[in-house]
Amino acid sequence: MLSKKINELLNRQIELEGTSSNVYLAMASWAELNGYEGCSAFLYKHSDEERMHMLKLFKFVNERGGKAVVPVIKNVKHDYKDIPEIFEHLLKHELKVKEEINSLVDTTLKEKDYTTHNFLQWYVSEQIEEERLARTLLDKLKLIGNDKGGLYLFDRDIINAGVEKGK
Ligand code: FEO
Repeated sequence: MLSKKINELLNRQIELEGTSSNVYLAMASWAELNGYEGCSAFLYKHSDEERMHMLKLFKFVNERGGKAVVPVIKNVKHDYKDIPEIFEHLLKHELKVKEEINSLVDTTLKEKDYTTHNFLQWYVSEQIEEERLARTLLDKLKLIGNDKGGLYLFDRDIINAGVEKGK
């Protein structure tokens, strides 16, 4: 049975994953409307994966006798200057998620909730992978700079950059 405190913290994480999903959906839409087909496909997929992260938490909370709450997500940013701004924002967002996950993991240990601690290890590994990918993409964009041809190739090749494999 989940403690009230852990239940609340997991609901906060549900909200954060739901926010990630909506933030990336808005980014995908911006990319689609501005002719970046590859980036758009990548971000739509990323948005779906974040929803899956949310659902995984949702089911865990309910299965452990807690109560999962559907988050209300407001103030999603829809307008971006360019593709680098999107990926800078994405990395910043993932770093924030990582901090929250780490703090949650820390609390489960303090509260001696080893089942939740064990469950959250998947998120810890997932964050490492997502942060690595976001940094790689940003590094590429920095190299490309203002080169339009480079940006064209980036948009074409990003289709093959997986957020996660088979999870
Ligand atoms: Fe579900 Fe990108 O963290």
